Amino acid sequence: MKMISLDRLWTPAPANLVLSKDEVHVWCASLDQSASRFQQLTKTLSQDEQLRADRFRFEKHRQRFIIGRGVLRAILGRYMNIEPSQLRFCYGSHGKPALATASPTGMLDFNLSHSGGVALYAFARDRQIGIDIESLRPVSEVEQIADRFFSIREYEELRAFPPSQQHNAFFRYWTLKEAYVKATGLGLSLPLNKFEVSLAPGDSAVLLKTSVDAQVPDHWSLMELSVGHGYAAAIAVKGDSWRLKYWQWLT
Ligand SMILES: CC(C)(COP(=O)(O)OP(=O)(O)OC[C@H]1O[C@@H](n2cnc3c(N)ncnc32)[C@H](O)[C@@H]1OP(=O)(O)O)[C@@H](O)C(=O)NCCC(=O)NCCS
Repeated sequence: MKMISLDRLWTPAPANLVLSKDEVHVWCASLDQSASRFQQLTKTLSQDEQLRADRFRFEKHRQRFIIGRGVLRAILGRYMNIEPSQLRFCYGSHGKPALATASPTGMLDFNLSHSGGVALYAFARDRQIGIDIESLRPVSEVEQIADRFFSIREYEELRAFPPSQQHNAFFRYWTLKEAYVKATGLGLSLPLNKFEVSLAPGDSAVLLKTSVDAQVPDHWSLMELSVGHGYAAAIAVKGDSWRLKYWQWLT
């Protein structure tokens, strides 16, 4: 099983794991698991997830989708104290998965993102949440992409980074913006220039304005995640006053 070298913040979760209302939990998992683990996870998927898996052209992508969903079910099952295969998902109009039934301890919100062989999962109670991870792969023309998709201010901020840092900074903006569109559930149907994040060097990220939540951009918290070398990642969470915990999914 391959695993990126994670920042030391990521530790195995305790057996008696609790997600309280003032916490956000982020989990990291490898999408390359042993054959026996793969078989176990496969059995927990619903029929529609199995059908979706079968539509992947490449076996590697099929397996990673199954592992991604299987791990999601395993983690949700822990929080809700039910068998992973018993969980039912429903989908928003733009495809965001959610739990079809509320847990006795309140609504459990979640989101997931994958890049290559790594998946990140975010969980919170009664808060919209979105997460994004991207591997820092080579992309030519980041300036042109930013010019097309980012706001003018974001584009100018990006250009203010030293040239050697611009490529990484581009992915930092990108993951923050994707985490936000995923938290809203609108996905990329929300044009990326309809809202604005700021990542001035040295500062933490903030949502400056958004057409989705007109007068209250400050009711959203954006945060970069420290994953490991070669990745950028971020979460967007509705509301503030929450603490972040990092967990590593191992079994
Ligand atoms: C959601 C979206 C931003 C994903 O971006 P991405 O970088 O390619 O993929 P990520 O790995 O970060 O995230 C994928 C996961 O996000 C979740 N997701 C799907 N749609 C989502 C949405 N609208 N909002 C939040 N999360 C969503 C899913 O769990 C998905 O993983 P899965 O397919 O393995 O279950 C992008 O695909 C999008 O905008 N989709 C919307 C498509 C749409 O409008 N469909 C309407 C008909 S259903």
